[in-house]
Amino acid sequence: MENYLFFIGYGVVAFAVVVIGITMKKAQKKAELERERLKKLAIKRAEAAKSVKKIQWTNQFIVDEGVIDEDHRTLFGLINKFNEGIIGFRKPEQMIPHLKAFTEYTQTHFKREEEMQRKSNFPFFDDHRKEHATLIEKLKGLSHKALAANEDNITNVAVEIAKFLQDWLTGHVIENDLPLKPYMERIREETQDMPKLAMEANVTSDSSEAPAGTTVH
Ligand SMILES: [Fe+2]
Repeated sequence: MENYLFFIGYGVVAFAVVVIGITMKKAQKKAELERERLKKLAIKRAEAAKSVKKIQWTNQFIVDEGVIDEDHRTLFGLINKFNEGIIGFRKPEQMIPHLKAFTEYTQTHFKREEEMQRKSNFPFFDDHRKEHATLIEKLKGLSHKALAANEDNITNVAVEIAKFLQDWLTGHVIENDLPLKPYMERIREETQDMPKLAMEANVTSDSSEAPAGTTVH
C-alpha cells in the first residue's frame, strides 16, 4: 500500500514538473515572439519616420515679407515638430496635441490672411476661402484617424498625416498664396505713401490758403 501511494505521489510530482516545464517553455516562446515583434516594429517605425523629411523655409515662399510669412514659418515649424515626434508616437494621445496646435494656428492664420485678401480686393478671395475651409474639414478627419490609431499602425498614420500636411502647406503657399503677393505689395506701397501723401496734401492746402495780401509766385 505504501509503495502504491509512493508511486502515485511520485507520478503527481513528475506530472507537475512536466506541466510547469511546458508552461515555462510556452511563456519563454511567447516572450521571444513579443521581443521579435517589438524589434520588427521598431525597425518599421524608424524606416517610416526616416521617410518624412524636414521642410525648409526658402525665399520661394515669401508672400508679404510680413505677418503672412511669419504665420507660414510658424506652420512650417509646427509640422517639423510633428515630424520629429513621429518616431516616439506610441499612442494617439501623443500625436493629438500636435494636430490640435497645428489646426488652431491654421485657423488663426486663415482668418488673418482672409482679412488681408478682403482688404486688398484679392480677386480669388472666394475660391481661396473655400480651399481654407476644405483644409479645416480635412484636419478634422485626420484627427479622427489619429485617435483611432493603435500601437501597430500609429507610425504609418503619423507619416500619412505628416506627408499630407507638408504637401498641402507648401503646395498651397506656392499655388494659392503667392498670387496674393502683388496685392500685398500694393497695400504696403499705399501705406508707405500715406504719410507722404498727407504731407503733400497739407502743403497744397497751406499754399491755397495763402494769407491775404501775400503774392503767390
Ligand atoms: Fe491661404
